[in-house]
Amino acid sequence: MKKGSYYVTTPIYYPSAKLHIGHTYTTVAADVLARFKRFTGYDVKFLTGTDEHGEKIQKAAETRGMKPKEYVDEIVDGIKDVWKRMDISYDKFIRTTDEDHVKAVQKIFQKLYDQGDIYKSEYEGWYCTPCESFWTASQLKEGNLCPDCNRPAHITKEEAYFFKLSKYQDRLIKYFEENPEICYPESRKNEMLNNFLKPGLEDLCVSRTTFDWGIPVPFDPKHVIYVWFDAVCNYITALGYGTDNLEEYNKFWPANVHIVGKEIVRFHTIIWPAILMALDIPLPKMVYGHGWIMFGDDKMSKSKGNIVYPDPIIQRYGIDALKYFLLREFAFGQDGHYTNRVFISRFNSDLSNDLGNLVSRTVAMVEQYNDGMLPEPGIGGEFDADLKEIVISAADKVEKAIDKLQFHEGLEEIWKVIRRVNKYIDETTPWILAKDENNKDRLNTVLYNLVDSIRVISILIKPFMENTTEKIWEQIGLTNGENTNWESASIFGKIPAGTKVKKGELLFPRLDVEKEIKEFEKINEEYFYTINPPEEPAEPVVEITPKPEITIDEFDKLELRVAEVIKAEKHPKADRLLVLQLKVGTETRQVVSGIAEYYKPEKLVGKTVILVANLKPVKLRGVESQGMILAASNDDKLVLVGLDGKMPTGTLIS
Ligand code: MSP
Repeated sequence: MKKGSYYVTTPIYYPSAKLHIGHTYTTVAADVLARFKRFTGYDVKFLTGTDEHGEKIQKAAETRGMKPKEYVDEIVDGIKDVWKRMDISYDKFIRTTDEDHVKAVQKIFQKLYDQGDIYKSEYEGWYCTPCESFWTASQLKEGNLCPDCNRPAHITKEEAYFFKLSKYQDRLIKYFEENPEICYPESRKNEMLNNFLKPGLEDLCVSRTTFDWGIPVPFDPKHVIYVWFDAVCNYITALGYGTDNLEEYNKFWPANVHIVGKEIVRFHTIIWPAILMALDIPLPKMVYGHGWIMFGDDKMSKSKGNIVYPDPIIQRYGIDALKYFLLREFAFGQDGHYTNRVFISRFNSDLSNDLGNLVSRTVAMVEQYNDGMLPEPGIGGEFDADLKEIVISAADKVEKAIDKLQFHEGLEEIWKVIRRVNKYIDETTPWILAKDENNKDRLNTVLYNLVDSIRVISILIKPFMENTTEKIWEQIGLTNGENTNWESASIFGKIPAGTKVKKGELLFPRLDVEKEIKEFEKINEEYFYTINPPEEPAEPVVEITPKPEITIDEFDKLELRVAEVIKAEKHPKADRLLVLQLKVGTETRQVVSGIAEYYKPEKLVGKTVILVANLKPVKLRGVESQGMILAASNDDKLVLVGLDGKMPTGTLIS
């Protein structure tokens, strides 16, 4: 019998770059929650996907000379592959280019227009393309910087449709006050209330006309629907909302939790709820805004080249180590700093020393002292009651922590058990008991208690580290069944005596910290440059302002001749000027040229240049110039014009 339904979602990712560990953080959290809920008896729907429309994606495709759909198809395949390698257990992957989604969003837009919640007007204001966000001037930082990503926003002016967000302000404030879970953690709820809701909401621009990669407004197709309007609707369209089949929608909506990063909480706790209010359907039960994983001082960002990708970590240390680290090291809800050193230290202390050693020591002792057969427990002893109490009380605490999305607390509860069991080994000293046949009965109890504690631990870690659980089960002779289900983690003594125990490979072989850091840094860097090859700097585009036309006769008046620099020196009075002596056929000409910033005099001697030979001589700062030489120049560069091959000096150019 299922306990009920449970619907958890991740944000849908922009397919504009390869996912780094910051993105995987959101998805790993949702995955653990989904696994935990399935394990504890819920009928779970775990949704993830990709947010494929918008100006940003269109531009990214254009710079690669691709059509947007062709471009996103390729990246979406890559994203699905990452989730596969990370063993992410999603039930549905939605793409906002899916036909059902497109149709449903159009229906939603039409409905809100028909009922007067969407109206036509004109938008003039600030827009941040990387974040696809509209801003008011007062929200910008330092005059024009986007408050979310710190990149410059730009002014845009276009005819647009607006959603009457302001109409929902009072209802939203009331909802926030009566339903604290609409925005967790508390600090973010206060931020939403104080920075956005209470100062007053402005109507939201929900269509764009300056590009076309989006869902067309059904009744005015030169507009495309604003990408955030399109995106948030995925949470219901993925369940069939807007189609004839509402079975899943009826079963899973409202969502139990939308997990999102802190910078997109505003879209999920203000804009999305207001759309739902307008549609007259229930709001999600919880929106959880987690913190950012920072690298150095900043949120990971490609432009700063400080990104860490999941693949090198998975390949070297395994999926479970990455998942464990992400959820144990950082308090969910707060920002945290990633460093390779912290990762490797945690690997050693928690996974290798605490968990890995406990399993390998225990299995080795059962093999050594009882031929690999789990003995029947015998006499109890001083430390047993305390051990059992701690072991069987953990499941409840872990459940409470996970229900509040406090994954780090849940893992800490599990590690308290692991440390307690390790201590039990030190307290009971099985290697001393084994020396005396009279202590066999007590030794049997100790071995049994150890293995059964490991059984409980393997159940507790299962939602977080499924592979490790399976490896432990192989070693202590367990399979999926009634002594490995969640309920059995609260009962001591479920593993049958007589079970065969067999040493396997080390779960997490200990790492040499300094050596490992060096090696891993190298691997990370190589990986970074394979997937982000340095881009050729783009050629600046030159705007041409034409000069008035001339006739061929006018052009013919110019006397252009091949010349060679035979002497070059600095102008005695002007730093910008050089004084050149040019050989032009049988003549020598002196030309003063403003090229000192770009050419050293000694490098010019021997160079072929083009001389305008019939220019009226002038004095430049007291030195006569008999003509000028040709150069191409812009604000920061100057290049002299030469010949494609050798020609005698004095030759006429026409
Ligand atoms: N497409 C929107 C979401 C639409 S949901 C209806 C979007 N996409 S995103 O690809 O930019 O980000 C997806 C998620 O990754 C966000 O929750 C974001 O916070 C998270 N992260 C991206 N970098 C991160 C870190 N460095 N650390 C933690 N999470 C971060 O926003």
